[in-house]
Amino acid sequence: MIIAPSILSADFGHLAQEVNAVCEAGADWIHVDVMDGRFVPNITIGPLVVEAVSRTTDCFIDTHLMIVEPEKFVDAFTDAGSDLITVHAEACVHLHRNIGQIKDAGPKAGVSLNPATPVASIVEVLDMVDLVLIMSVNPGFGGQAFIPSVVGKIRELDRLREENGLDFDIQVDGGINADTAKMVVDAGADALVAGSYVFRGNYAEQIAKLKEAFGPSR
Ligand code: DX5
Ligand code: ZN
Repeated sequence: MIIAPSILSADFGHLAQEVNAVCEAGADWIHVDVMDGRFVPNITIGPLVVEAVSRTTDCFIDTHLMIVEPEKFVDAFTDAGSDLITVHAEACVHLHRNIGQIKDAGPKAGVSLNPATPVASIVEVLDMVDLVLIMSVNPGFGGQAFIPSVVGKIRELDRLREENGLDFDIQVDGGINADTAKMVVDAGADALVAGSYVFRGNYAEQIAKLKEAFGPSR
């Protein structure tokens, strides 16, 4: 069970303090949302900021690339300290090659699906990835409402994982709060990204409420 607060909702004027506070409050990973204004209608963080985050914390750095041609930036985000690099299936013409490139560079490799993209589009690479990120909002902004139709995709992925003896993590990102966390964990999710839910309240309390979704046995 992994809770990964997204720094997209942090106060960027005090980023180092925010990262340290959320890690001390129980975050397992720091989720970094990289946007290029092309794959998604917003621009955010580049390798320079990932490098600064990496310098301030020992927390695992989970880098979500919402950019076109992500292969051009795998080395830069690796050098900046990313422990996991996730690319979007929709942004990769050569997805198999791109996942191999991330693993060769050193970080763990993830693949992400937008709400409208079916699980079938990544079946051929499921044995290569460390993580599948199911987007539960259309990527681009924090604070959007959870899209319930993605729950079926999480179940489908969990079933495929079980049937094929695979061990990738299933991560869910967008509109996660205590209620939606329960829905996605019950469907098979292992890792939750939460931006506004964690950063709008007391970090330790919000993270603890998300962890309750996993119940005592997980
Ligand atoms: C959306 C990003 C998310 C976002 C989540 O494009 O990938 O990580 O920050 O924010 P909330 O939890 O506020 O929906
Ligand atoms: Zn994200």
